[in-house]
Amino acid sequence: MARLQLIKHNAQLSGLRPELATYIGTAIEGLHQYSRFRSDEKPPGRASAVVVRPTEPRRPAVTAIKVRHTRPEDIPELIALQARVYPDIPAWNRRKVREQLEVFPQGQIVAEGENGLVGGASSLIVLWDDWAESHTWKEITGAGTFDNHNPLGRTLYGAEVFVDPNLQGQGIGHLLYNGRRALCQAMNLKRVIACGRLPGYRAYSHDMSAEFYAQKVVWGDLVDPVLSFQIKEGFSYCGVIENYIPEDHNSCGYASLIVWLNPDYHPEQPVTIPEHIAL
Ligand SMILES: CC(C)(COP(=O)(O)OP(=O)(O)OC[C@H]1O[C@@H](n2cnc3c(N)ncnc32)[C@H](O)[C@@H]1OP(=O)(O)O)[C@@H](O)C(=O)NCCC(=O)NCCS
Repeated sequence: MARLQLIKHNAQLSGLRPELATYIGTAIEGLHQYSRFRSDEKPPGRASAVVVRPTEPRRPAVTAIKVRHTRPEDIPELIALQARVYPDIPAWNRRKVREQLEVFPQGQIVAEGENGLVGGASSLIVLWDDWAESHTWKEITGAGTFDNHNPLGRTLYGAEVFVDPNLQGQGIGHLLYNGRRALCQAMNLKRVIACGRLPGYRAYSHDMSAEFYAQKVVWGDLVDPVLSFQIKEGFSYCGVIENYIPEDHNSCGYASLIVWLNPDYHPEQPVTIPEHIAL
């Protein structure tokens, strides 16, 4: 109200009629209140520093990119790409990726551009009841060999997804997630479940728990490079898991448990794993 009085006073001093000064003052105060109502209670602070989003028009590269199944000859290139994506986390070795391809070739996909591979997404099928209460990445993926793959399960478990660091934010992750959803639907699986890294958490770990951090990301008050992407992709957040990948220092070992339910799932029909699945 003090501001309203001041506006009216200044308007009168500049020679305006009292009723006109009151009218202008009330309008300005109203606008001020409206802008306060629209903005967040707190300024974004450090949240805006977590991720630098590209300012150029997005998706310039995506039209030239195809998602296809992984082939044995992709293995060296895929591992080299993964090592560039995670400089601080040990990359897979050739034997493990070969095993993944032998165990469940349908679940392994890559994104390929004109100059080679630009991303990959790996999955296995699990009986979710075996893992729902607690698991780590190492346990559920058989330390990356996928020897826990169980065709009797009804859950596609996302073990890994990554995009070339120079091409992130251009829609390639979205294409890979489309591919993963296509696999889930083609096999009549009930859902996709994954545990996503929380690489933005370390910067907040002294101020709040991982769970509260993840909730703030879900509420839209913070941005996390992985969880924000997954929420945009239509996944639901189910909670955090501790010590999921202990070597993942940026996430302080935490991951968020997320799920996407297949809208076309038919519980009365079996899971089918065709040799070839169109992506
Ligand atoms: C997470 C990752 C796979 C996403 O792939 P991407 O190609 O960068 O994502 P996309 O460009 O397809 O983004 C899809 C949507 O998510 C949003 N999104 C992507 N990254 C985001 C971020 N850092 N913050 C907020 N939103 C983001 C995009 O805005 C886009 O939404 P829009 O279509 O409305 O614009 C990729 O950033 C990556 O490889 N990260 C490092 C590896 C990693 O941690 N993988 C996760 C393992 S659990």
